[in-house]
Amino acid sequence: MIEPPSHNNELATSLRTDVCGLLRRGDVGRTVRLGGWVHRSRDLGGLVFIDLRDRTGLVQLAFGPAWTEANVIALAASVGVESVVLCEGELVAREADRVNPEMLTGDVELRVTSLRIVGPAVTPALQVARGRGEKLAAEELRLRHRYLDLRRPELQENLVLRHRLLQVSRRFLSDRGYLELETPILTKPTPEGARDYLVPSRVHPGEFYALPQSPQIYKQLFMCCGFDRYFQIARCFRDEDLRADRQPEFTQIDVEASFVEQEDILRLAEALVGTLWKEAGHDIPTQFPRMTYAEAMETYGCDRPDLRYALPIRDYSVSFGSVDFGVTRSALAAGGRVRGIVLPNAASWSRKQVDELEALAKGAGAAGLLRVRHVDGAYDGPLAKFLTDDVRAALALRDGDLALFVAAADRFANPALDRVRQECARRLELVDDQAQHFLWVFDFPMFEQDAETGALAAVHHPFTASHPADMLAYPNEPARWRALAYDVVLNGTELGGGSIRTSDPAVQSRMFALLGIGETDEQERRFGFLLEGLRAGAPPHGGIALGFDRIVMLLAKAPSLRDVIAFPKTTAARSLFEGAPVSVPMKDLDELGLKLRVNGVIA
Ligand code: AMO
Repeated sequence: MIEPPSHNNELATSLRTDVCGLLRRGDVGRTVRLGGWVHRSRDLGGLVFIDLRDRTGLVQLAFGPAWTEANVIALAASVGVESVVLCEGELVAREADRVNPEMLTGDVELRVTSLRIVGPAVTPALQVARGRGEKLAAEELRLRHRYLDLRRPELQENLVLRHRLLQVSRRFLSDRGYLELETPILTKPTPEGARDYLVPSRVHPGEFYALPQSPQIYKQLFMCCGFDRYFQIARCFRDEDLRADRQPEFTQIDVEASFVEQEDILRLAEALVGTLWKEAGHDIPTQFPRMTYAEAMETYGCDRPDLRYALPIRDYSVSFGSVDFGVTRSALAAGGRVRGIVLPNAASWSRKQVDELEALAKGAGAAGLLRVRHVDGAYDGPLAKFLTDDVRAALALRDGDLALFVAAADRFANPALDRVRQECARRLELVDDQAQHFLWVFDFPMFEQDAETGALAAVHHPFTASHPADMLAYPNEPARWRALAYDVVLNGTELGGGSIRTSDPAVQSRMFALLGIGETDEQERRFGFLLEGLRAGAPPHGGIALGFDRIVMLLAKAPSLRDVIAFPKTTAARSLFEGAPVSVPMKDLDELGLKLRVNGVIA
């Protein structure tokens, strides 16, 4: 994957006439000057071969007594791998029996006449060149020596793809009238549900900037200013628990538009996603299927279902109503439900295998996982003898089926059944790696309510608008309001999310109050700059942010975000290469008016 020049000459400089990976038969006979890294070398006693590498690929350099002076051959034999050299020679065709069909440049080689080692390399801590089937070094070591790991063609390709997707996004949005506007990095906290990274102010001791969790408020202010179409390739910072698809510092394609409704944003995002996928060589549907949040939770137990396989969750509560089994009876009596999944060809799973699934369910909050299997026409398992005809009819198990149930309130059952469903799909090999199932999930609830305290928290963020019909129908029951919010999901990964915003400052103020930010003073202190913007005349507006790193990861088929970010953090939020974070001298803290508390003691 080479970008941008289509022709070798465009990469020519004063020091090189060509690049390694683009040399072809048509160049035979030319005098060629190259610069690159010594990928590997072979000394056949008097005859030396070096594979020279640059961003575009490899080409073989040949040093032999018939065309190279002895001192140059000796220099070639001595050069260490990963050193940078400049060389010149004549490009020749390889003999038919020496053609290497695995290299794009495998039918030519450069007969070198002069060689300079311009960047000698110490013995590398990692091997960049790998033989077939040779494993990568441990990731920690690779992250520690990122300057070498980034030389690996796979990572280079990922970053080239990243570059192309960035250019395509910019062109797509700019062509549609979206303005690329920048927002500050030293900002005021923007709540997106994570902790803030704080930056102390030296000139205002005791005061802090926050790094943006997203440009959310600023992009809404742009709408108030009349920049009715905004985008930004925005760096966001969130101090949250990390996983393979989360980094503390990540990039969004952030978009906002005025005079829009939900439909406008969904259409725009579909077209943008389609353009990105096209750039990576995939044609995808121009419109994505849609599912309400309620349906997603009911059928898949999560708000970003992986639709590459079915395994729907079904509600068997009604038929279990007459079942005299303690666990299901007490769950139903407590207002819970009995929901489960029927798994074809899983009746043969051992008790231990099903216990492992139960452990997953418990880890996700369920008290247990009930099981019944249908083998040779009979029901089997601890539940079997309690099953009424009603339940049997509802389950409609076929021979070889295994049914798994969680009897509990939805807030425990949903995450448990989601985990179990995903693991069962994996075990049953139902996940088609090639399939791409895009989905819009919409009609999220506006708030989630803490089961113990009853406190409300915004499911998307506090600036999202609620369905006007819900606010009218249940004016005093905000927990029943649905939000005008939407997520775009691919194969179980959330690619992006957005919403239509509250543009009425009085309604926004009420939202803050519902979220426990009731005092006018506090609202003004924290969000005055947004409220002022809205009060000054705000158009209806809405937007979306796509997780750019996640998109690159999926399109590059990379296992982790770390493979598509040049200098990523570990799951412990450290950069192993630069060595951050670091402690700072006391005098720096003094200047900032800060003191450290280590193990409870002020240092
Ligand atoms: P949200 O918080 O849903 O929305 O973020 C949008 C998308 O950003 C990606 N993302 C991440 N990627 C990598 N590492 C992370 N830690 C991380 N967190 C989020 C996800 C997610 O879907 N301001 C709103 C957008 C809006 O309302 O317009 C926002 O930030 O792919």
